[in-house]
Amino acid sequence: MRPLSIAAGCALLASCAAALKNPLLPGWNPDPHVLRVDDTYYLAVSSFLTYPGLPIYQSKDLSNWELVSHALDQPDVVPIYGVGTDKGVWAPSLTHINGVFYMTSMAMWGSDPSYRTWPRIFWRSSLDLHTWSDVVWAEPYGIDPHLYRDPVSGKDYLTLMGVQNGYESWFGISQCEVNLDSGKCKGPYRNIWNGTLPMDAKARPEGPKLFRKDGYYYLLVAEGGTGVTHRATIARSKSPEGPWEGAPTNPLIFNGADTNLTIGATGHATFATTPEGRWFATILGRRNVNGWSLGRETFFVPVEWSEDGWPTMNEGEFLLPSQTFDYGPDQVRPPALFEDRFEGPDLGISWYQLRSPYTANYRVGDRGCAGQMTACGNMTDGTGVVLRPNVYTLSDRDSPAAILRKQVSLNMTFSATLLPSHKTLGPSQSVGVSVYSSGEAHIDFGLRGCRNSTGLCVFIDKTVDSPGPGTAPNSTEETLAITSIPADFTLHVRALYDKYALGYSAGSTDAVHWILDFPSDLVPTNFDGIMFALFASGNGLPWPFDGPEVGFSRVKEVYYAEHWTDYQS
Ligand SMILES: *[C@@H]1O[C@H](CO)[C@@H](O)[C@H](O)[C@H]1NC(C)=O
Ligand SMILES: *[C@@H]1O[C@H](CO)[C@@H](O)[C@H](O)[C@H]1NC(C)=O
Ligand SMILES: *[C@@H]1O[C@H](CO)[C@@H](O)[C@H](O)[C@H]1NC(C)=O
Ligand SMILES: *[C@@H]1O[C@H](CO)[C@@H](O)[C@H](O)[C@H]1NC(C)=O
Ligand SMILES: *[C@@H]1O[C@H](CO)[C@@H](O)[C@H](O)[C@H]1NC(C)=O
Ligand SMILES: *[C@@H]1O[C@H](CO)[C@@H](O)[C@H](O)[C@H]1NC(C)=O
Repeated sequence: MRPLSIAAGCALLASCAAALKNPLLPGWNPDPHVLRVDDTYYLAVSSFLTYPGLPIYQSKDLSNWELVSHALDQPDVVPIYGVGTDKGVWAPSLTHINGVFYMTSMAMWGSDPSYRTWPRIFWRSSLDLHTWSDVVWAEPYGIDPHLYRDPVSGKDYLTLMGVQNGYESWFGISQCEVNLDSGKCKGPYRNIWNGTLPMDAKARPEGPKLFRKDGYYYLLVAEGGTGVTHRATIARSKSPEGPWEGAPTNPLIFNGADTNLTIGATGHATFATTPEGRWFATILGRRNVNGWSLGRETFFVPVEWSEDGWPTMNEGEFLLPSQTFDYGPDQVRPPALFEDRFEGPDLGISWYQLRSPYTANYRVGDRGCAGQMTACGNMTDGTGVVLRPNVYTLSDRDSPAAILRKQVSLNMTFSATLLPSHKTLGPSQSVGVSVYSSGEAHIDFGLRGCRNSTGLCVFIDKTVDSPGPGTAPNSTEETLAITSIPADFTLHVRALYDKYALGYSAGSTDAVHWILDFPSDLVPTNFDGIMFALFASGNGLPWPFDGPEVGFSRVKEVYYAEHWTDYQS
């Protein structure tokens, strides 16, 4: 590999002192779509089974991003019920047409020629990214939709990956001119490009994005599946309808050519410019840790154009964690700690539920403790999140009483302090924390009524390699000499790259009792990523009508420096 001119030695040069680093959005932020409007950048990412869906981040400097809204913030607009891992809401794109934002995405309820279930494309529009129009359902089925208005003809195009339906269609990029208000095609629906790889189910040209530069239209796609062989490729044409000519510079980015690299699975690119006209891309990628990763994160890649109108990404070189880019200032790494005391009136924007919640699974804010310190467990601080446990667990294909936050660092602690209670818990009533990647892979621990003795126990429920919902977790418990949840009982997770440690402290001055270490690959990630959950569950039974109120008064995350080498050691 030839030396990198963009980044090599940059850290040693004073002029490069302030520079953007990857990952751009650490934590599970897959399928990014970046868009600049005036001086503001927006990034939308996939949400899969998490609600609210379709997160939108905003930045003024390209380096520092803030989660500002979600395009699916009512449970009933695009309902996601009963579906399992890797389904849900995927691959958004953001388009700005005549001052209106369009968020386009798809509801992956299934894509199965035998069951005849297909992902359905939709979009919503908004002036401010906070108030959204009704959902418009598009006519074609498929995945990874993109809306583009041709500035020359004024026509609107819907471009997507058509799915293999078992008989008359195949995986490939398809397109029609579309009516933005009705979702109906206004022109022929046509397969327009099959990408650069031999045409089979593994090639999967997907994630199409259209844009125009210097008289050419460009069609940027992802290919090779979203795993190790994921890549970005591009084609161009004098018309937005093609025919398309592939670039001699393809693949534009493909870290899969060396599987020893730390950053892998690079692809699903979107191009954008800075206000000064410098080009860049966002892509998804994984930071590999012994074959495991936190999930697919969002990365930044510089883009250059040759005089004959073809782009390169990162000068055609591999993307490395040591690279820095003078497109934005230094990010604060490690970030300041995160703390949430659930002061209300709403849950903080970075918390998610699973699937479309159709019951109230929590309440947040003032718990009405004023003058009732004993009932509230002698809390001086009267706020918290009170969970409303239902029959469901984190393994069920439903909405358990759980709120989850994305794990954003590989070197951090997550601590959650339980609300005290003067009532006890039965053996089917649990409240705790989970290291969660999917319904089939999550390690839960917390408090419940002991199953093999009396009083309260600290339990560990391991759901790993589960053959599916309904399989009992591997459960162990440790008896505590208590019958009610004391004040300041805190559950701790220590995340350290290739392992997690779980522990608890029984009071504000108590040291942490570490109870389990487990390797990260017990919670593998595919399309999904790691989240920390706060949950309570009746584990198949209704929560007793006179049962205790359970929840959390505080969550704290502390981040430490992460050290990444360019190649996996
Ligand atoms: C894509 O591949 C299919 C199946 O081989 C073929 O019928 C179609 O014409 C191809 N599309 C283009 C634009 O070449
Ligand atoms: C990856 O590392 C292994 C072990 O060091 C080595 O044998 C292999 O050649 C490397 N692969 C590449 C593509 O460099
Ligand atoms: C709250 O304080 C009262 C009075 O000091 C004490 O009797 C009670 O046990 C405390 N309750 C809890 C849950 O700590
Ligand atoms: C449950 O976990 C324990 C402790 O890790 C282990 O010894 C045991 O084999 C596991 N049982 C099952 C059924 O996986
Ligand atoms: C309860 O005890 C039985 C018998 O020793 C054991 O198999 C089971 O794993 C125990 N359950 C828990 C939750 O510890
Ligand atoms: C994680 O953070 C700790 C505490 O700052 C530090 O000692 C350690 O070196 C870090 N570990 C890695 C692998 O970066």
